Amino acid sequence: MMRKKPSSNINKIIRIAIFASGSGSNAENIADYFKDNTEVDIALILANKPDAYVLERAKKLDIPSFVFSGKEFRSSEIVLDKLRENKIDFVVLAGFMLLVPKYLVEAFPDKIINIHPALLPHYGGKGMFGDNVHKAVIANKEIKSGISIHYVNERYDEGNIIFQAETLIESDDTAEDLATKIHALEYKHFPRVIEEVLI
Ligand code: GRF
Repeated sequence: MMRKKPSSNINKIIRIAIFASGSGSNAENIADYFKDNTEVDIALILANKPDAYVLERAKKLDIPSFVFSGKEFRSSEIVLDKLRENKIDFVVLAGFMLLVPKYLVEAFPDKIINIHPALLPHYGGKGMFGDNVHKAVIANKEIKSGISIHYVNERYDEGNIIFQAETLIESDDTAEDLATKIHALEYKHFPRVIEEVLI
């Protein structure tokens, strides 16, 4: 007799939580991508700032949201409780600025992924987030940058890389120009890579 695989995802809807700290355009793009998918449900959006625009997007998308403080994230398990209560299977960090604490990495082994707006291992680590990354890349007169999608461990931007894509930088590109190019790469690849990791 065939034994059923205990972790089989067959016939099970995979419930995803997206964490974001600001605008959340990636979160919205991912939600749009999966909206008609019968195997994947974007079940919860979490933000660490009550005025993060991603919360407006969650309302518009009709996705439940949850706000927590940095202190609650670091020193309580309120976020983990919320994920469990919502039966979350997989976590996506999309423009999320806080370091993920150990208890959360351990609760979701190889089930948390992040997008970083540069070609890791370059321009990663503490302080390297959002526009800081693009400003540093432009200041160093790099000729290319890109995106890195990677698993999350307890150190900033050091988990195994799943996917990278590059874009060229023109000599007169500003940090804003680069941010636009990077966002385009993120919108194109992130949802598809999530799907590949999951299914
Ligand atoms: C993205 O470029 C992400 O890679 C970076 O911050 C930006 C967030 O954009 N960490 P948004 O909030 O998804 O619009």
